[in-house]
Amino acid sequence: MSFSIESTIEGVFTRENNKVKKLLTNYLDLLFKWHNVSNIVSSSDNEYVIKREIYDSYQLNNYLTGNSFTDVGSGGGIPGIIISILNPDKKVILIDRKSTFIDFLTLVKAELNLDNIEIIHRDVLKSNICLNTETVLLKNFSNKIISKMNFEKKFLYLMKLIKKSKQVSKAYMLTGSPVLELSKECLKEFDVNTHVIPSPFFETNRVVAEVKFENTINS
Ligand SMILES: C[S@@+](CC[C@H](N)C(=O)[O-])C[C@H]1O[C@@H](n2cnc3c(N)ncnc32)[C@H](O)[C@@H]1O
Repeated sequence: MSFSIESTIEGVFTRENNKVKKLLTNYLDLLFKWHNVSNIVSSSDNEYVIKREIYDSYQLNNYLTGNSFTDVGSGGGIPGIIISILNPDKKVILIDRKSTFIDFLTLVKAELNLDNIEIIHRDVLKSNICLNTETVLLKNFSNKIISKMNFEKKFLYLMKLIKKSKQVSKAYMLTGSPVLELSKECLKEFDVNTHVIPSPFFETNRVVAEVKFENTINS
């Protein structure tokens, strides 16, 4: 049977209502069309993107707490756009430093009428940025500075960066199994809870790392 976004969404998001399924279908339609020109997702295999990237982001949603989220390094909007579609009453801020992604996210916001999202074009490592949401989301955040670090160094670097924003009380990182092997020192410094996301489609499972910050404005 040939691939169609609509039927894959029907099969993967069985429990969602028609409005959510339609929004997800429209988003993915735009994402895959834009990807053909500007390369904005991790793979050109659309079925893989839905069953891995989109499904895992959908599962991440089950763990989230808070009324406002910032997706740092949102790229093509994974997971930020999925979270905004699933939580129309919650504020979602999408930040990226590259104009290709910002232009795409701006188009998605307009086409899908996503009133709950705000898009910020900024480099979070350069601008001394203050994140103003309760919760921060991270998936595959990477650039030249951190790509050569091992997982734990990268994790510490990012959590220290987020911790500077005193309004943020929690961060959720959607990542791979190395997060299950953080050292005792790292776990002493940060309060980390991990949840393995079972995948019905793949043998490897992604992990949600939930990090709670002390001394926040809200605590
Ligand atoms: C590998 S992509 C991941 C995108 C998306 N989260 C996903 O999983 O598909 C990393 C993203 O982080 C963004 N990024 C990297 N460094 C950044 C920085 N310093 N400030 C803001 N965005 C950054 C890149 O432009 C890119 O969109």
